[in-house]
Amino acid sequence: MSNQHEEHEASHKTPVRKEMSRRQFLTYTLGGATAFMAAGVTLPMVRFAVDPILQKKGEGAFVKVVEISKITSEPQEFTFELKQQDGWYLSTANLTAWVRKDESGKIYALSPICKHLGCTIGWNNDKNYPDEYHCPCHGAHYTKEGKQLAVASKPLDEYKVMLKDDWVYLGEIIPNTIVK
Ligand code: FES
Repeated sequence: MSNQHEEHEASHKTPVRKEMSRRQFLTYTLGGATAFMAAGVTLPMVRFAVDPILQKKGEGAFVKVVEISKITSEPQEFTFELKQQDGWYLSTANLTAWVRKDESGKIYALSPICKHLGCTIGWNNDKNYPDEYHCPCHGAHYTKEGKQLAVASKPLDEYKVMLKDDWVYLGEIIPNTIVK
């Protein structure tokens, strides 16, 4: 009888709840609040640092430079402005290109930067090198396709060219694809 009574009592005992101490409560609360605030400060900073990397690079920006009808087989010099976004810094570069069309009518544009040490080349600017690009600094000279003939070890770079609505658009500078 007494055993039955004890069992009955045990089955009606309220379960013992583990009480959280005041110290634990404060520790958890303060820890959570601190982590929340730290995330609030840190996440924008991380995004600020990483955002330019995530953004697409200028999507190959092209600039309208000259009407197609003005391009001849003789190289002509054209200047244009290119807006460049570097992270949050927007700058404007004044660029020059030598543009011509070849015998098949293909239009291409060469960079005027000498591949020796970076001076500016000109077309037909030295009587010793007719119909060539010549660099006044150390005498490099190039064919009209930009192939190096002396001093420089590489051909002149090219601009990417896009033809649209009767206009020539120029994009980023790439290694020469016309000559080897
Ligand atoms: S920089 Fe052009 S020849 Fe030297």
